[in-house]
Order: sequence, then C-alpha cells, then structure tokens
Amino acid sequence: MTDQTDVIYKTDDLIAQDIDAYLEQHQHKTMLRFITCGSVDDGKSTLIGRLLYDSKMIFEDQLAALESDSKKVGTQGAEIDFALLVDGLAAEREQGITIDVAYRFFGTEKRKFIVADTPGHEQYTRNMVTGASTADLAVILIDARKGVLTQTRRHSYLAHLIGIRHIVLAVNKMDLVGYDQATYDAIVADYAAFARSIGIERFVPMPISGFKGDNITGLSANTPWYTGPSLIQHLETVEVDTTTDQAKPFRMPVQWVNRPNLDFRGFSGLIASGTVRPGDTVRVLPSGKTSTVSRVVTLDGDLDEAVAGQSVTICLADEIDCSRGDVLATADAPPQAADQFESTLVWMADEALLPGRAYWLKLGTQTVSATVQEPKYTVNVNTMEHLACKTLDLNAIGVAEITTDRAIVFEPYAEGRTLGGFILIDKITNATVAAGMLHFSLRRAQNVHWQAMDVSRAAHAALKNQQPAVLWFTGLSGSGKSTIANLVEKKLHALGKHTFVLDGDNVRHGLNKDLGFTEADRIENIRRVGEVAKLMTDAGLIVLTAFISPFRAEREMVRELLADGEFLEVFIDTPLELAEARDVKGLYKKARSGQLKNFTGIDSPYEAPESPEIRVDTTKESPEDAAERIVDHLLGWAPTI
Ligand code: ADX
Repeated sequence: MTDQTDVIYKTDDLIAQDIDAYLEQHQHKTMLRFITCGSVDDGKSTLIGRLLYDSKMIFEDQLAALESDSKKVGTQGAEIDFALLVDGLAAEREQGITIDVAYRFFGTEKRKFIVADTPGHEQYTRNMVTGASTADLAVILIDARKGVLTQTRRHSYLAHLIGIRHIVLAVNKMDLVGYDQATYDAIVADYAAFARSIGIERFVPMPISGFKGDNITGLSANTPWYTGPSLIQHLETVEVDTTTDQAKPFRMPVQWVNRPNLDFRGFSGLIASGTVRPGDTVRVLPSGKTSTVSRVVTLDGDLDEAVAGQSVTICLADEIDCSRGDVLATADAPPQAADQFESTLVWMADEALLPGRAYWLKLGTQTVSATVQEPKYTVNVNTMEHLACKTLDLNAIGVAEITTDRAIVFEPYAEGRTLGGFILIDKITNATVAAGMLHFSLRRAQNVHWQAMDVSRAAHAALKNQQPAVLWFTGLSGSGKSTIANLVEKKLHALGKHTFVLDGDNVRHGLNKDLGFTEADRIENIRRVGEVAKLMTDAGLIVLTAFISPFRAEREMVRELLADGEFLEVFIDTPLELAEARDVKGLYKKARSGQLKNFTGIDSPYEAPESPEIRVDTTKESPEDAAERIVDHLLGWAPTI
C-alpha cells in the first residue's frame, strides 16, 4: 500500500496535496465523498475492504498476503478477511502520525470516491465530525443481529446536523440472520421512526453482507425480495449537490491578497458558492464597498467564468480595501455580518466548555475572539430530549448563544457550510475544542448601537490632565495585592491624579455578589471587572484592580478590551508557603481543613503571568518600594503625568 497508496491519514497539509494528486488522475469523472459510520463490531473495516477489493484497488501482492493472513487467522476458513486489509493499514497508523480520520480513495468506471473512515467509539465524535464535514453521503452501518443502537442514533444525528443530505442505511451481516426479510424490515421501520423524529426526510436502506459480498456490486441471489440498488450502484448514481452550490449566490472568502508587484492585485480564495464572471458587480464584506470584477485569474490563465469549488484569484476594477478574512459576494444578495448568534456546538475537548471564556472562532478565513454563553440546553441523542445544562462536556451537543468581538460575515449553516460552520480553538493550548453551526444572528445585536457622545474619551482624560490606564494586580489570596494597590493609589492621588481602586473583596459585596469561586464564576467576575475598568478609563481615570484573577485567558481578554499600552499587568509574586503562613483572613487554614472548597493555590489553580509589565517579588521588595517603582513605571510610560 505504500507505492500506490490509496489511504491517506489526516495531517492537514498531506491531505490537501494527496487529494489534489488523486483528483488529477481521475479528472474526467464526478466524485462522491462519503463517510462510513458504525459501532465497533458492525463490520465497517470489512465493508471498506470489500469496496476497495471489488473496485480492484487492491494489488496482486497485497491480495496474496491477505489470503495467507486470512488462513493464519483461521477464523474465516479459506475466505478472505477484508477487515485484515483495513486493519493492516491501521497498523501503519501507529508509525508516528496521530490519526483522526483515514481517507481512502477508490474509483469505478463511473465515479471516483473518497471515503472517510472514522473510529467507531463514542469518544471519537470529533473524528466523525471531521470526516463528515466534507462528506456528501453517509453510510450508516447496522449489524442485522443488533438493530438500531445508541451509536446509530448518535451518528445519524451528527450526520444530519452537519448537513449530510444523503443517508444510506446499510443493514449488514445479513448472512448471519439467514437473509431474513422480516428482520430487515423491522430494522428499517425502527430506523425510519427515529429518522423522522430528527428531521431526516429520506434515506436509502439496503440489506448487505460486506463479508460475503451481498448487494455490494451487483444484486444478490440471497435477497430476492430486495429490489433496490446495490451499494456501489447507488454510490455511483446518487446525485451530488455541487450543482446546487453553483446555483446559490456568489460567495468567496478571501484567503490572501495576491500582490506580486505594483501592477497586479488580486484576491485569492476558494469559491464557496455561485458563479463569477468578469464584469460582475461584487461587494466586499463586511465593509460593504462594491466594485466590478475585471479578471478571474488561475494558474492556467484567465477564465470567462468560475464556479463553486474552484480556486481563483479575482481582480477588481477599483482599488478598494479588501484583506484576508473578508468575503467577496454578489452585490445585490450579500451575506449578513453580525456579532451575536444562536449556534449548535459539538464539544470535542476533555476540558468542558467554560461559558464566558474567550476562544478563537474560525469561520471560513475569518478568525475572531468569541465567548459562549451558558448553554440553553444539551441534546440527549438517544431520546432527542433537551436537557438543561451549565456547560458542555466531551462529546456533548448543545445550543448556546455566541458573541464575537467584532462582526463576522456569515450565513445560516442550513444555507451554506462554508460561512455557517465554525470551530472554536483554545487560545492557550491551540487545540480545537468544538465544532459548531451558526443558525441566525440575534436581533438584539442589530438593534443595540453605539451611542456617539460629544464629550469624548480624550476630552475626559484631557480635563483630568492624565493618560487613563489600568494597573491590573494579580496574585494569590494574601499575596499583598490590595496593600500595594492602596499605596500606589495614595501616591498617585498625592500627585493630583484621578484614580479608583476596584478590589475583589469589595466588588464581591455588590456588583458581583451573585458569583462564587467556580471557574465559570471567576471568569464572569473578571469579565465584569474588565468591562467596568474599561468604562472608568473612558471616563479618564487611572484604575487599579486587585483580584486574584487566576486565569491567563481572562487577563488577556481584559488586555484586549483596552487600547495598546493601557493595560499594565502587575504580578504580585508571593510564594504559596508565604501567603499561607501569613493567612491574614484565616482562609488557607479553612481550605486545608476542607471547610472551604476551590481555594486558589490549594484545590483551584493559579496561572502565573508569563510576561507581566511589572513583577513584584514580595520576598525581596517591601510594599512601599514596590509602590514607588510601580508609580515610576506609570510615569515613565505616560510622560504627561
Ligand atoms: S477571583 O479568583 O475571582 O479573581 P477575587 O479576587 O474576586 O477572586 O476574590 C478573592 C477573595 O475572595 C480572596 O482574597 C478571599 O478573601 C476570598 N475568597 C473566598 N473564597 C475563596 C476561594 N475559594 N478562593 C479564593 N478566594 C476566596
């Protein structure tokens, strides 16, 4: 399998290259991308092996090896065990690459195929979502002896959610139930009831045996009562939706601005939907500016027309602003831009969703900072019940509102996967934590506008004759944040500066008295304090905040709220032993004895700043000296003080 490989394991770069090479070879044929979904023992490997075998994609030497392996294993008599082929390939996976999804390529006279093979265990929801996100069709495998299982429902729900419109219900292992029509009919009826309940309008059922080859290429004599197509016949003839993508309005997310010299400026990307021709009027979003397409350029020369699925570079008649992340669209039917949405999320990380935490949201070529509200509900995929929840755990599917820090160009997922589907990325670890679908923008996002004020931010600051800033003190409980912040404020006040201190213990008596010390509550605590601090800088004040603020992500979130240089992180670095020894409020003692839960440094983490503007080592520097140095730093940074 190594020379003429027909299996590619997912590493992003590799995949793009190999898919390109494969498509090149079979250019004249149409293509179907599909995914096979099944539980562990449903016979998925055998079926895929069989498809590769029957489409003559197995080469002589492998066949010989397979025959002898099958004999060695012995369980299948003299017949070939196709699962060995696919599982044999699986052994290759262990050679260094972490695989999420294995993509296998094969072709028949009529069509070429890319099948995404994803592991069947429940914990692999993530792989299934990855494989399904580009698939046109899903083959849902059922073991005829077992019928519809939780996994069947889960896979079907996900496939439907992700927008796969063609579903094949392959009732497998028919040989083991004596090709019994009644068994088959009962399973199909059972599945039909479930499918209807989740909105699957059509599916194509078929009785098969991957192992024996029944109804795979041709129709089997063992099931004379079955009159539908064989699996391959169906895969070869099912209509794929590329034409409907082309019929939709033109949209192209801009991947990069191609500017090799001063004479050429073009916008490169993959056309997500519609058609574009020179002379068309297009709109750049979110700015809304319009221009006319002057050229549609490709490596093979200019085109008179390009359609969904093609990668092109578009030149415009006017010099208008357009950069990576913008979207080019038909001028008279552009997509909307918004910053608040209702979405469905499939949570894929071991660490649960933290409502309020800022994640990166990637949609098309746009990347923005986004926060997810407490979910409205999570879906039980067995019963389709909506259950109340506070977060989403690994594999959970839920509906929640999402807010982005600036408007993004989008379409409801039902209208287009490219501008409706997104992923969330943890800002610190860079891991993909969720896949999601945008349903609609929230009306309140459109109805709340910024009120322009005549007395500006700058005017407020000028009257006070100072540069606003936030001195953000962070450190363990009892590290000395409040003490030092208090000294700094006294010094600034004496210098005639307008200041205000926001202190954890005080704010928690008022504005934040509804919050406790869970991760989610601490995140909300800091979010509110960050917003208040920002408003105070708008009023021209120098703000000092004293909160443990244990998480890097939220401190960064506040930094991003403020103008460059206005946020100064002051790390009060006191070793835990010292803070605990002082134990001014007696809380460490309570925490150690188990009377106080989630105490920072004991059973709740503290993430120390990596590059604070100011670090105070309280084992070396007195509070008075530290305060002096902080004031100096502020004066040095803002010479107008
Ligand atoms: S933060 O983590 O959300 O930033 P904040 O600074 O507002 O915390 O509040 C910390 C103060 O609350 C501590 O100084 C302490 O007096 C008190 N406190 C009560 N319970 C806890 C706890 N479980 N963990 C930390 N501080 C606590």
